[in-house]
This record gives sequence, C-alpha cells and structure tokens, in this order.
Amino acid sequence: MRLMGRQLILKVLLGSAFMGLLMLLVNQQQSPCIPSLDLWPSSQKAPTEDPLGLSSRKFEWQTRTPHPLDLRYPYPYPFLINHPDKCEGPRGAPFLLMLVMTRPQDVGIRQAIQQTWGNETLVPDVVIRRLFVLGLSLPLFAQELQALLEEEDREHGDLLQVGFLDTYHNLTLKVLKGLEWMAQYCPTAHYVFKVDSDVFLNPSYLVKQVLQPNGPLWPNFITGRIYRKSVPFRIRGHKWYMPPELYPQDRYPDYCGGPGYVMSGPLALRILTVAQRIKAIYLEDVFVGLCLKQLGVKPTPPPPNTFLMSRRKYDHCAFHRLVLVHRIQPQELLQIWPDFLRANITC
Ligand SMILES: *[C@@H]1O[C@H](CO)[C@@H](O)[C@H](O)[C@H]1NC(C)=O
Ligand SMILES: *[C@@H]1O[C@H](CO)[C@@H](O)[C@H](O)[C@H]1NC(C)=O
Repeated sequence: MRLMGRQLILKVLLGSAFMGLLMLLVNQQQSPCIPSLDLWPSSQKAPTEDPLGLSSRKFEWQTRTPHPLDLRYPYPYPFLINHPDKCEGPRGAPFLLMLVMTRPQDVGIRQAIQQTWGNETLVPDVVIRRLFVLGLSLPLFAQELQALLEEEDREHGDLLQVGFLDTYHNLTLKVLKGLEWMAQYCPTAHYVFKVDSDVFLNPSYLVKQVLQPNGPLWPNFITGRIYRKSVPFRIRGHKWYMPPELYPQDRYPDYCGGPGYVMSGPLALRILTVAQRIKAIYLEDVFVGLCLKQLGVKPTPPPPNTFLMSRRKYDHCAFHRLVLVHRIQPQELLQIWPDFLRANITC
C-alpha cells in the first residue's frame, strides 16, 4: 500500500513536471520571436523544385534556433577510432564494404555478428570488408566504455567511431559519416551495404544472386525493400514522427528500408555529394531516398521476398533463398548459424 502510494505521488509529480514542460514548449511555439518557424512558410513549396534555394536555406536554418530533431550536417565530426587502410591489401578494392550500424554499448551484438554473417571470409573468392559504425556514448559511462571500445578494437580492428552523440535520431549522421569514410579511404569499393545490427543476413545470396561478382557494375544500382509513396507519421510521440517544420510534403520519395540496403560504390559517392546540399532528416532511409530523387535514380527491385522487414521463423531452406530478415536478436543468430552453414541439407 505504502509503496503504491509513493508510486502514485511520483507519477503525479512526474506528470505535472511533464505538463509544465509541455506548456513551456507550446508557449515557445506560439511565440512570434522564435525565428526558425518561418523557414518553411508553406507546404506548397516543395524543396525539390528549388534545389539551389534549398542549399542556402539549409544553412540559414542551422544558424537559427534548431528544432530538437534537426541535424547538424555537413559538419566535420572527427573519426575517433579509425582504420584508414582497412580497404588496402594485395587483393585490391573490396567487392563489398559492409557498414554495420551499432551503438557503443552493443559489444555482444558485434561479437555475434563477427562470428556469423559479418565474417569477412565467408564468401570464397570475394573480398568483403566490415566496419561497425558508432558514435559517442552518453557522458555518464563515457570513460569506462571508451576504454572497453579501444580494447575491443585492438582485438578485431573493425570499429569506426565518429565524434557525435550516438542516438537514434542521429542515425543519419552515422550513415553519412560511413559514406564519408568510404569516399576518403575506400572509394573504389564495388558495393556498399548499409545494414543495421538486429538482422539476419545471408552474404552468399547477396553477393552471388543479387550483386553477381562477374557481372557489370551498374553505376546507378541500389536495392533493398522498396517503400513507395509512404506517408510521414504526424502523430507526436510516434517513433518515426516527422515534424512538418522539418519535412512539409505529404509523401516520402521512394526509398529502401533502413535495416539493409546495398548500392554500387559510384552511386554511394554521388549520394554523399548531394547529401551536402539537401536538408538532412533523421530518418536515414528516407533521407537516402531524397538524395536518390535529387539524382534522378530509382531503386532497383530485388528478387521477390529477399529483404524481409519483419521477423520470420528460421527455416534452413527459406533463409538460404533470401538476403535479410529484420528483428533477429544476437542469441538467436548464434543459435541458428551452425544449422544455416550445414551443407548437407538439400532444399
Ligand atoms: C569465418 O569463416 C571461415 C570460413 O567459413 C571460417 O574458417 C572462420 O573460422 C570464420 N571466422 C569466424 C570468426 O567465425
Ligand atoms: C546528435 O549529435 C550531436 C553532436 O554530438 C548532439 O549535439 C545532438 O544532441 C545529437 N542529436 C540528437 C537528436 O540526438
């Protein structure tokens, strides 16, 4: 009883604090002296119709009060843990550069990936390079975690740490800094694969069936699960809430779903170039879609049902005929992997 009473008091206190904060925010939004609100004066003005005006707007916006979800980009966030010669070697430029998005604290997840689909030597005769891209941890545990990261990196040499706060809303920065790294240290990689860490991946199928090492390198190639004409979430508090101030249009451009998409090296470099001029939004996959639209490039559909954006129960034969399954936890990955590698099962 006593405990419940305390909980109630706590809830009431938290509730009123939250309401107070909300009032503060609402008041601020109504206040005419906040300059950032008049930057996107009407939703009729689609930024894509005015690419040059847009670029100046980007900087105008950022010198004023930024929206909490606004991203500071372009910006010279430094590489704090780096491997400049990752792509060098006797076998030349990698066929596939895997940029795996993880958070600093995800030590166990990285270990599971290294032992399973992240294994660079899994596909014979093809050079694959893997880097885990991460930002800075929250100040609370920063020092302890940083020492652990450096130790982890001494052992595996596969971390790319960038100097910005590692939060969900900064994911776009992670992807763009990954591409910047590629442009600087690995510009002749044939393909770049952006992948999240909560997936199952079948690198053999990706390389042999989708990318085809002996085929031509298509300069405008990008594939993944394609989302067409999706509508932004406008309900505050939703994980993917998109404030109209940051993106006023009613539809997103066609884009490949964030859990995993693969693009040719030349296209990756061009995406990075236009990304310097387009206003960055925190939904990284949608932002890449905006860059593609600007470039006039359409995503190529993958073989049917090969990029699954929702969980699927493990099945040896089914998993051999697809590229990616989203929402697979590391324990499960480690558990299914030995069976996945068994060669004596006929499908
Ligand atoms: C990676 O795969 C190769 C070939 O299948 C295997 O010999 C090696 O032990 C694997 N490495 C790890 C870290 O699992
Ligand atoms: C993104 O990182 C920057 C630089 O560390 C930080 O100031 C900002 O708060 C982060 N933004 C979000 C939305 O997390």
